[in-house]
Amino acid sequence: MYLKEIGITNFRNYKEDLSLVFSHGNNLFLGYNAQGKSNLLEAIYYLSLAHSFRGARDMDLINFEKDFFRLEGRIIKRDREQDICITYFRDRTKHFIIDGVKGKSLNDIIGQFTCVIFAPEHLQLVKGPPALRRKYLDTQISQIIPRYYQNLRDYKRIVRQRNEILKNRQEEHLPLWDNYLCKTGTKIIEARLRAVKKLSSMVKDSFFKISGENAVFEVDYCSTLGPLEYFLDEKSIFERYREKLTSKREMEFRTCATMVGPHRDDLLMLLDGKPLKDFGSQGQQRMAVISLKMAELNFIKTFTGEYPVFLLDDVMSELDSRRRKYVVDLLTQVQTFITGTDRGQFDEEFLEGVAIQNIRCGKIY
Ligand SMILES: Nc1ncnc2c1ncn2[C@@H]1O[C@H](COP(=O)(O)OP(=O)(O)OP(=O)(O)O)[C@@H](O)[C@H]1O
Ligand SMILES: [Mg+2]
Repeated sequence: MYLKEIGITNFRNYKEDLSLVFSHGNNLFLGYNAQGKSNLLEAIYYLSLAHSFRGARDMDLINFEKDFFRLEGRIIKRDREQDICITYFRDRTKHFIIDGVKGKSLNDIIGQFTCVIFAPEHLQLVKGPPALRRKYLDTQISQIIPRYYQNLRDYKRIVRQRNEILKNRQEEHLPLWDNYLCKTGTKIIEARLRAVKKLSSMVKDSFFKISGENAVFEVDYCSTLGPLEYFLDEKSIFERYREKLTSKREMEFRTCATMVGPHRDDLLMLLDGKPLKDFGSQGQQRMAVISLKMAELNFIKTFTGEYPVFLLDDVMSELDSRRRKYVVDLLTQVQTFITGTDRGQFDEEFLEGVAIQNIRCGKIY
């Protein structure tokens, strides 16, 4: 799959209508700080999940001086071309049009155009907070199962409301909310378990290739429900969830917070069976992150049959030349969008086969 063209109107610092045609190989965007490089990648990513990869509110994506933004993408898939158009207005309405037909909901968009993003914050995937690792899992599962994304949104809302109930000590409402929580949370855990099982063999494989070391890198799902086997069905997860929740009742009233469930789970990373964050060298941790990103590309390909588009925001400069070369060599079948501040960050050999454009003040030259 690749993105052939994008039309950008009033998005972030892109004030004037912008129309860009891309190479189906590597696309490099160069520009000084604050010129619009990440904004461009944010626009491309928005076509896949209709939200900002930086966690920004939709409202903040509209150009300061305008009342709406519009993104139009032309995607080339193995068997056909597809046009996606998303418009968002200041009155908080969002419209989707797919091949000229109005979409009814977000579900019509998700999964049509798939993307993986690698940004400097992902270098924290090993050592950083669990929220980063949950997001790593959630974004890739969302792109292949639109329902998952909906469940995740519902679940977050349920946790917020349930915490309010705990705060107000409205014990009579808890059974109902416990039920919502366990039902929705179970679906999330079940999908994550299946994904982690697949990912684990993929990261092992890419770590071998990247590091040339014999060390075994694995990931495992670490749940607040206790140890869970990969083959568990929804009914068994649901039962364990209820039990665990009941056992935490007192503590939950004390802390006014929902203590168990997918919003507190984590992805465990192990190198030769030991926690990578505690025992891995800095180099091993970086290689593990690259392996995780490569696995993400392969994970989506396994389900959709096509590689997603790969966005690399300012990370090439963070990698040494050997790892940079490794990433680039691996990506021959993938369309990439890479940003950087100057040509000097890239090897001459790499620059030869790349379409280069410059970004200045929200304009592309
Ligand atoms: N809604 C908006 N309307 C207009 N301009 C905006 C909006 N949101 C952000 N900007 C501007 O976009 C610019 C930042 O763009 P971006 O994050 O793409 O920079 P960058 O080229 O990636 O820089 P860096 O190299 O520092 O990462 C800032 O000048 C910011 O003020
Ligand atoms: Mg940037």
